[in-house]
Amino acid sequence: MNVALGVGGGIAAYKAAELARALMEHGFSVQAILTDAAQEFITPLTFAALTGRKVISNLFSAANPEGTLASAVEHISVAEQHDILVIAPATADLMAKLAHGLAGDFLTTTYLAFTGPVVLAPAMNSNMWNHPATRENLRILRERGHVIVEPEDGLLACGDVGPGRLAEPQKIADVVAGLAASGRRATVRQHRDLEGEVILITAGPTQEPLDAVRYLSNRSSGKMGYALAAGALERGARVILVAGPVHLDPPKGAEVIPVHTAVEMRAAVMEHLEESTIIIKAAAVADYHRVNAPNHKVKKTAARMSLELDPTPDILAELGRVKGDRLLVGFAAETENLVEEARRKLESKNCDMVVANLVSAEGEGFESDENEVVLVLRTGEAIPVKRAPKTAIAHRIFDEMIKLRLALHSSR
Ligand code: PMT
Repeated sequence: MNVALGVGGGIAAYKAAELARALMEHGFSVQAILTDAAQEFITPLTFAALTGRKVISNLFSAANPEGTLASAVEHISVAEQHDILVIAPATADLMAKLAHGLAGDFLTTTYLAFTGPVVLAPAMNSNMWNHPATRENLRILRERGHVIVEPEDGLLACGDVGPGRLAEPQKIADVVAGLAASGRRATVRQHRDLEGEVILITAGPTQEPLDAVRYLSNRSSGKMGYALAAGALERGARVILVAGPVHLDPPKGAEVIPVHTAVEMRAAVMEHLEESTIIIKAAAVADYHRVNAPNHKVKKTAARMSLELDPTPDILAELGRVKGDRLLVGFAAETENLVEEARRKLESKNCDMVVANLVSAEGEGFESDENEVVLVLRTGEAIPVKRAPKTAIAHRIFDEMIKLRLALHSSR
């Protein structure tokens, strides 16, 4: 696979050389593109020596000093010849240009012409990273479906300590490899292929009160469901997001319905079922709750306390009974027998797809930025999707969902 590596003009530019090497160790061919500012920190010769390829360093490449037509459209061929675009360090200036479609140099021009997955690794001073302008640009770029490899906390070149250090090159390379392995295809070309769909997504945990101050819950952060919402919006769908209590900014344009309990989640889902065409149940719904939980704080008196818990409403099973010709996607959080359990759920809940994830695996499932899943389909297929950022997993779910619906309709 071919990776275009854009290098921004920050002190961390020297680390892009390590990143180029790490990408090549993953078997990628690397085409370096240096901004003018990057060349203040590192020379094109470094990358030429590392990658064995001509380094592109301006809109009219040196190979065509007279700026012939060939060089004027070279960014188009670079955009078409590469599978993934990585930008590291993505400086505050570069992020602003990408977010707003400015194209004054080779890298930003190539970005606009590029239709594949984009990975951004920001690096800058902490105050710049926390500035509202940067946060807004980050939100725009994340919503566009780009994978962001968050900067790390630590000692910065300016002497400050805080967020803003470029993520380790090996980690960035691993994220790119995960993206490539997940089979994530072009992003822009997928644009609008969910136009007209109304996708009802549940995300996050539920909280089941035990008394006025205590509750039962789980470690779901909502990241998987929110990644699905962002991806669906990016591809043109209308998104109704029924969300348990999470600490995430919802994707702009999602119609968010906040809930706490499984009973509230069920009510919100059923209320919006009629208008929905696709339902995706990514939420970690508590299986049990305390009926008639006391509305005061239970005093700590007895040495032991036992609780009588009743099952919560099984929303997915109910949807399976009333879905009609809507597409129903369930999730399965398992610690063993992943595919067998997912197949059982697919049948017993009448799902069209079950996204199965091993929640006991380190760095996957609950709270993580990445996931590794098996997509179990009504057609009988079980499609493994290697570890990748949840945004990439979300797009892969949509890719397979679109194909599944065609297969189910043609088999009717
Ligand atoms: O939120 P993150 O931190 O990103 O973590 C993502 C995730 C691990 C929560 C997600 O990938 C996931 O696995 N979600 C489903 C978790 C879950 O409840 O799995 P389950 O096997 O217990 O439930 C099976 C399915 O039934 C799920 O679609 C669930 O939404 C649904 N369900 C469960 C119980 C219930 N009472 N009603 C339901 O609808």
